[in-house]
Amino acid sequence: MNKNISKSQEKTQNTRDVFNSKIGFTLACIGSAVGLGNIWLFPYRVGKSGGSAFLILYVVFLLLLGFSGVIGEMAFGRAMRTGPLGAFKKALEMRGMKNGEFLGMIPLIGCLLIAIGYSVVVGWVIKYLIGSITGSVLNENPCLYFQKITGDFSSIPWHLIALASTFAIMVLGISNGIEKLNKIVMPLFFLLFAFLAVLMFFTPNSYKGYEYLFYPEWSSLLNFKTWIDALGQAFFSLSLAGSGTIIYGSYLSDKEDVVSCAKSVTIFSFVSAILSAAVVIPAVFSFSLENELQSGPPLMFITMPTIFKSLPMGNYISIIFFASVWFAAVTSLVNLFEAPIEMLQTKFNFSRGLSVCIIAFISTVVGVFIENAEIVGIWMDTLSDYIVPLGALLAGIMFFWVCGKEFAREKVQLGRKKKLGKWFEIMTRYVFIILVFIVYIVNIIIKV
Ligand code: PHE
Repeated sequence: MNKNISKSQEKTQNTRDVFNSKIGFTLACIGSAVGLGNIWLFPYRVGKSGGSAFLILYVVFLLLLGFSGVIGEMAFGRAMRTGPLGAFKKALEMRGMKNGEFLGMIPLIGCLLIAIGYSVVVGWVIKYLIGSITGSVLNENPCLYFQKITGDFSSIPWHLIALASTFAIMVLGISNGIEKLNKIVMPLFFLLFAFLAVLMFFTPNSYKGYEYLFYPEWSSLLNFKTWIDALGQAFFSLSLAGSGTIIYGSYLSDKEDVVSCAKSVTIFSFVSAILSAAVVIPAVFSFSLENELQSGPPLMFITMPTIFKSLPMGNYISIIFFASVWFAAVTSLVNLFEAPIEMLQTKFNFSRGLSVCIIAFISTVVGVFIENAEIVGIWMDTLSDYIVPLGALLAGIMFFWVCGKEFAREKVQLGRKKKLGKWFEIMTRYVFIILVFIVYIVNIIIKV
């Protein structure tokens, strides 16, 4: 059976688009990881859950997941040369079992639904970017401005621009579209956000923000919810959902070392979260808006513009801020849409163009109904709490257990000079799977 898989791999490898370089692949995975999760959710979750106690847990979970789940999804995709649908199917077939495609639908559809909600928020970001350029963001009342575009069917034009720009890149394919986009936009994102973090350092009383961020509120560790939130945040921000990382892995050459790629993704995901906290939190304290830290969506769209208004050259800062957020978000969005698009290409033999059009159509038709901020909030929370960990759990079980110990080790070892240590099985088969399982169940129990 293994031989059959290698043969079909050789065949598909010749016709499939691939990442041209390791740096291109790594940047694309970093691009997927770094997104609204790190920039928008992280600062307010840190605020809500006890500053650095949350931060410490988050780092521990990032490392745990980075060195287990992320490595696994990259290697799983590469071994099967397709997205979750085909990968789950091939994994179960190795054991003579059926219905893999059915299970693979869970992360695949989950991913598409996240992408649909994500596009709505990216539409707002684009509206704020354009509004910063024309000056309307800083001239109007920030609350009203946000309300105006977040009601029912209120952001159709921006939403459509968000979708159209994303699909225009995707139609170009992996090496010409997604890889090039990430190579340009991700370094820019880090440069611009580092610049903003330095600027915010000079705002009056910014030290209070750092104190808040780095002064641990240990008692919050007693609250189980802090643990769940930190783990959920780590999942989402590493794009560990059983689809996005699998699909990028499927375009990766056998010559590359997935462990080192996963290491970079983990480090940069952390750096981006810290950078965005360093942009948002000190500024919020400087302007005595700390009560707004827990406001969720409005933090980025109401509180930040309020701050930009008071800063010298605030309109330029606002442009840089929203442009960077867009860079981070669009590189995640292309990843979220890639798995369903690839599925149409592989399963139905549709061209890339047709597949992109079908997904574009579905996303537009469904998306316009969830433009209301409240609805999209519930939509994203539900998917990230229930579907993201479930997808990751299923992918982990498929690769580490169904495909088996030897297969997983062999596929992760490909392209790697140093031999994988014993830690590999312990981390992947036990720590990762058990952790995800417990969190998933506990999360459901807490919510019910
Ligand atoms: N990691 C992305 C973010 O932080 C979201 C994402 C989740 C992307 C799952 C792909 C898959 O915004």
